Amino acid sequence: MELTVNAVEKEAREKLTQISSLEDLELFRITFLSKKGKLSALMQRLKDLPPDQRKGFGQEVNRLKSFLEESLAQHRSQVSVKKQQKTIFDETMPGIQPELGYVHPVTQTIQEVCQIFERLGFEIVKGPEVETEFHNFTALNIPLDHPSRESFDTFYTDNGHLLRSQTSTVQIRIMESRKPPLKIIAPGRVYRPDTVDASHSFMFHQIEGLMVDDCTTFSDLKGILHLLIRELFGAKTKLRFRPHFFPFTEPSVEVDIQWGNKGWLEILGAGVVDPNVFEAVGYPAKGCQGFAFGLGMERIAMLRHGIQDIRAFTDNDLRFLKQF
Ligand code: PHE
Repeated sequence: MELTVNAVEKEAREKLTQISSLEDLELFRITFLSKKGKLSALMQRLKDLPPDQRKGFGQEVNRLKSFLEESLAQHRSQVSVKKQQKTIFDETMPGIQPELGYVHPVTQTIQEVCQIFERLGFEIVKGPEVETEFHNFTALNIPLDHPSRESFDTFYTDNGHLLRSQTSTVQIRIMESRKPPLKIIAPGRVYRPDTVDASHSFMFHQIEGLMVDDCTTFSDLKGILHLLIRELFGAKTKLRFRPHFFPFTEPSVEVDIQWGNKGWLEILGAGVVDPNVFEAVGYPAKGCQGFAFGLGMERIAMLRHGIQDIRAFTDNDLRFLKQF
């Protein structure tokens, strides 16, 4: 092929359309603009030309030279933008996995217990954590001089309210607003000014249950608690009902389960609703019968998972939380 300015320019224009990488660009530069490139070859022809053609030819070669240099610069910036875009979005890379959260073991336990009771037809109800003395004590037949009313057993607010120390408050609120029959479960936080150690915290979660109609008996309570405990701890779990005292139930029991070599462990309180409680919420003295029970969720979760220290629930250590 004859080496003319036009032929070189045509070739260069064609090559430019094919440039897509820095390597292509470099090849282009070597082919046309390097010492042994086509532009130098054209320059060398200058001296062989008759003198009257030299000026015109020289101008043509210079024009080609600027064209080649400008094209090179322009393509260089385009290729580097393309390269950058490629590193910013590479559709073949795996996506960024969002960190998945975990349901807290105490929440899991609450959900499980709620599900058991929902199957039995209980309704899940909630109530406030800041309460009145009436709902936390008086309506529950807890006398004014009862030690649990002392400030070392209950957190009081400046305006005479308190942080509920048990979720029995919710049962009072529901009974105040509805007539029997009732089958309710009240999960929630409760607060007690206990010194924090491996088994105590100033805040924990309780679930309390209440059933009221005109014929509910203590044996219904036993049946329901048997079912609950066997669902939670396995069908072979042995439990015993031990007489106890609560102001709001009569008779009252504490329920223990047999736990390996640790012997009997207390896990919940229960009893038949005291008539004074019905009176406090305006239920008729005759024709109302019911039972109630309450249990701590942290304790259940600790027993089931072999957790030794209640503080682990609130340390927010993901190594702990990821295990459940
Ligand atoms: N409210 C009691 C507690 O906090 C538990 C309980 C509830 C006992 C209902 C009997 C009946 O310990």
